[in-house]
Amino acid sequence: MTYVTKIYMPDREKFKAYIDGIYESGWLTNNGPLVQKLEKKLEEFLGVKNLLCISSGTDALQLAYRILEQDGKEVITTPFSFVSTTSAIVAERLKPVYADIDSQTYNINPDNIERLITKDTCAIAPCHVFGNACDIDKIDKIAKEHDLKVIYDASHAFDVKYKGKHILNYGDMSVISFHATKMFHTIEGGALVIKDDALYEKAKIVRNYGIDGPDSVAMLGVNAKINEVEAAMGLCMLEEEDTIFEDRKKSHEFYTSQLKDYVQLQKKNEHATQSYSYFPVVFKNEEEMSAVRAALLEHDIAARQYFKPSLDTLPYVKCNEVMVKSRDIASRILVIPMHSGVEPLVSKIIIDTIKGV
Ligand SMILES: Cc1ncc(COP(=O)(O)O)c(C=O)c1O
Repeated sequence: MTYVTKIYMPDREKFKAYIDGIYESGWLTNNGPLVQKLEKKLEEFLGVKNLLCISSGTDALQLAYRILEQDGKEVITTPFSFVSTTSAIVAERLKPVYADIDSQTYNINPDNIERLITKDTCAIAPCHVFGNACDIDKIDKIAKEHDLKVIYDASHAFDVKYKGKHILNYGDMSVISFHATKMFHTIEGGALVIKDDALYEKAKIVRNYGIDGPDSVAMLGVNAKINEVEAAMGLCMLEEEDTIFEDRKKSHEFYTSQLKDYVQLQKKNEHATQSYSYFPVVFKNEEEMSAVRAALLEHDIAARQYFKPSLDTLPYVKCNEVMVKSRDIASRILVIPMHSGVEPLVSKIIIDTIKGV
């Protein structure tokens, strides 16, 4: 079976050497030397400051809301993303308010944000969907005018720069997932990047049960640490990122050249670099999408309808209004496999099937 994602396994000997080191030091968790090294290396690699490795992208989102301490307030967010973009808001006792997306970029449409702002709004939480940068300038302007925080879900955007700087530099906080299926991973894991130094110090404490000294607990915390084995995986992955980028770039460019006249491709933000993390295609209607999905399955190729369901239909949220565009795109999108494990024959079948339908 060919799936949309395939877990990348870095060089086995390098990983083994790290594991041997862990056995020798006996240090498995609690902000060990490998976690500290990974955080430093990631800051250098990405050109960001105040990066904290967190147990998952979902936990990083939750931590971001927790340190804001805005219980009961509203967060304007996108209905078109992975479920965690909303669940983190709800789990931290905030209320998601949806602003519909742009049907070409699949990102939150900034023109839909302003009319949703009330006295209870505390933040805007967009997602750079499939690594496509949001309209950062417009969102930033709205946030500044209304004194709101911006928390970006940049889970898909490890390889993206916006106006020459890594995309994690934007917003008050930015979150990324390092789940095993991602372009860069730590098995499970994620990171939170925080602009404000005081908030960064607070996040470090909250990540570690709220403990701020040997016999002192400063605030309500969680356990959102990553461990040494996960950090070792991250350090191995970092060394191979150039190859991973190049492989994906080739596949992405090949699919683009073959499919651009047959399906709708995501409209890219012109101020940002292209992400090679996913390859979404949108069909004319749901029937076409279903026909392609079924035909691919006959060849053991599992394309996925990311992101379905549209988050405004989640059973635990009260939707402020029907997100027409998000539901429409969710009904006719497929993400096709695009990783180094996709054999040329398989990508040919994918392309021929889409063209055929
Ligand atoms: C957009 C988005 N946000 C958040 C997450 C959650 O990340 P994690 O799986 O690391 O908790 C994901 C995971 O795939 C995601 O795609």
